[in-house]
Amino acid sequence: MKISELKGRVPEKLYEGLVAHGLDELRPPQAMAIENGLLERKNIVVSSPTSSGKSLVAEIACIKNIVEGKGKAVYVVPLKALASEKYKEFIKKYPFVKTALTIGDYDSDDRWLANYDLVITTSEKMDSLIRHSVPWLSCIGTLVVDEVHMIDDPHRGPTLEVLITRLRNFLNSCQIVALSATINNAKEISDWLGGVLIKSDYRPVELKEGVYFNGVVDFNGIVENVGEKSAVPEIHLIKDTIAKHKSALVFVSSRRNAEGLAKKAGPAVGNMIGAEEKVQLEKLSRQILKVLETPTKQCQTVAECVKNGVTFHHAGIVAKQRELIEDAFRNRLIKIICCTPTMAAGINVPAFRCIVRDLKRYGGGYMDWIPVLEYKQYVGRAGRPGLEDLGEGITIAKSESDKETIKEKYIDGEPEEIFSKLSAEPILRMHALGLIASGEINSFDRLVDFFSKTFFAFQYQDISRIKYKLEKVVDELFEFGFIKKEVKMILPTLIGKRVAELYIDPYSAYNMLENLNKSNQKPMYYLQTMCSCFEMYPLLRIKSSELEVFNNKFFDFEEELPEVPSPWDTEYERFVNAFKTSLLFLDWINENGEDVLYEKYGETPGALRNHLYIADWLVYAMEELAKLQGNKKDLTPLRKLRTQIKYGVKEELLNLLRFEGVGRIRARKMYDAKIRTVADIRKAPAEHLAKIVGKKTSEKLKKQVVSGTDEQKLLM
Ligand SMILES: Nc1ncnc2c1ncn2[C@@H]1O[C@H](COP(=O)(O)OP(=O)(O)OP(=O)(O)O)[C@@H](O)[C@H]1O
Ligand SMILES: [Mg+2]
Repeated sequence: MKISELKGRVPEKLYEGLVAHGLDELRPPQAMAIENGLLERKNIVVSSPTSSGKSLVAEIACIKNIVEGKGKAVYVVPLKALASEKYKEFIKKYPFVKTALTIGDYDSDDRWLANYDLVITTSEKMDSLIRHSVPWLSCIGTLVVDEVHMIDDPHRGPTLEVLITRLRNFLNSCQIVALSATINNAKEISDWLGGVLIKSDYRPVELKEGVYFNGVVDFNGIVENVGEKSAVPEIHLIKDTIAKHKSALVFVSSRRNAEGLAKKAGPAVGNMIGAEEKVQLEKLSRQILKVLETPTKQCQTVAECVKNGVTFHHAGIVAKQRELIEDAFRNRLIKIICCTPTMAAGINVPAFRCIVRDLKRYGGGYMDWIPVLEYKQYVGRAGRPGLEDLGEGITIAKSESDKETIKEKYIDGEPEEIFSKLSAEPILRMHALGLIASGEINSFDRLVDFFSKTFFAFQYQDISRIKYKLEKVVDELFEFGFIKKEVKMILPTLIGKRVAELYIDPYSAYNMLENLNKSNQKPMYYLQTMCSCFEMYPLLRIKSSELEVFNNKFFDFEEELPEVPSPWDTEYERFVNAFKTSLLFLDWINENGEDVLYEKYGETPGALRNHLYIADWLVYAMEELAKLQGNKKDLTPLRKLRTQIKYGVKEELLNLLRFEGVGRIRARKMYDAKIRTVADIRKAPAEHLAKIVGKKTSEKLKKQVVSGTDEQKLLM
């Protein structure tokens, strides 16, 4: 179908936008969606391979509906990084639509969103917005769910499922467009949504799938040599990729493997790169090093690898560095990325070749084959539309029989079906409270009725299992004091309402409330309480070799911790792991650098940022709960702890951090030079101050303390 056939059928501005973007022909899944009612506001589920162009189907629905006054559009994606990528794309492609991005702060109603027509967000953030009763909910006319197969994810899937059920429940005329990877039961999803299924095998670039064994690649019976042999199969394939002037993503099972392979492949790749590119790579390497104020060992490893045109990519790397790597790979400066599954999650980084080195992964106590769906997502990234007319997906076999298994299971195999993961108790607890707190549900029958509309109920045609668990969960919420029962009604208590808004697990909240009551106001006490929350999972683990060290540490902190369970208690292991995680935070606020944390705990810069983000949210929640308890004694220590966690500083630096231009490093330098108060800054000769914090900051500081400034305002 030609784009020109859309003229007159979609708003002029949208049509012009598509043409201006250089689109000429609609791809088969897109044309099928249009022929099957996309423009008539039917619910549509598109299930097609990676890079087949699913997004455009969603875009057409959103923009058409907005321009025609059919309400706001909400575009839900599974990852924050994906949301930012989508946002950038939308504002560039459709500048006439007021588009907003919201991904942070779960305790806010984001009033400003009322003025926007298109809201790009994650399922957790959207769920939290509903809990804050945002007034524009009823104005949603289009809901897009990108990567809807995520329903299968044990951690994130249930929130997505509840979100869709909730919105469908109170929006009568909302068009739903759900986009999915190729899964076996996409029809089940579209039947659940009362929509039309668009299923297509279309790929913009042909994909050749093959298995490497014994120095050659077997592409469905056609054997290809891959250049000069090398002892390590993946290095052999990497060198062949470079020799062909192409690029490759190599998928491995863990962060450590990704780093190890990038280091190992470095010299071989580096030798094959020209001098001019080497200069550019050196420049990129310096840029990567500059991202953090004090580069860690990991930053140095990334920077070193990049010099050879090969690097690693995983969630432990700081977001800014990941972006630099992705851009350089798109521009063909970086040739090889060794990566973990994060890379396959919808981010637009196509490569000529996708090599899946590890088809087995450790889980449940043994090594097991990864799902076919996952394999298809990896190799599906192969092929660069418009640049190459072929992509290659290559796996590595260890034996002849291994090769046959891979062919049968993965290359000729069908992706699995997806299954609802809604029945886990902590998940039901969280969402049951959310529904009761918003006033949407006010009786047990209605709660069961709500869950009977979920994908879980649709898929299993039986909710007795959930009903039984809901009874338990409601009793628990009642015991925690978060809901009250009146005749046949279930109503939220004030504290239950607040817990739901704070977007924390009810059990975490209950534990916080209990501990706050008995608090000794020591940082370690709060840290341990915080690390006992589900939100902080997975915790750092104590290895058996470390057990003795940590047992001794317990004695050092015995007085400061909440009640320690006995070593025979089932809770003990969890407590010890939470303790180790708390010590990580304690070291951080005692101003240990990221390098020390990496050495001591194996904490990468990316993981640290993620931990700090969760910690900020949980300490904030504790502060809010303390307020609700009327508990003044915990408030100031919690407020201080939150700032200490944010900056990674001891308490003594907090006053200095209030000055504009002063971060953890400058504050420490000033403090050590005995410049600690407004009066000290006033008194310090300008040149002396400039020597400590630099000329610009020194001038800024002097301006902030001009005589007459209220000292109280500046200091805590
Ligand atoms: N009709 C079209 N003509 C030319 N290019 C197109 C067309 N439709 C989409 N594209 C381009 O194809 C690329 C992939 O599209 P898109 O991101 O929508 O893939 P997807 O199906 O969502 O894949 P994934 O499973 O990776 O999320 C984009 O760069 C997009 O601009
Ligand atoms: Mg997509």
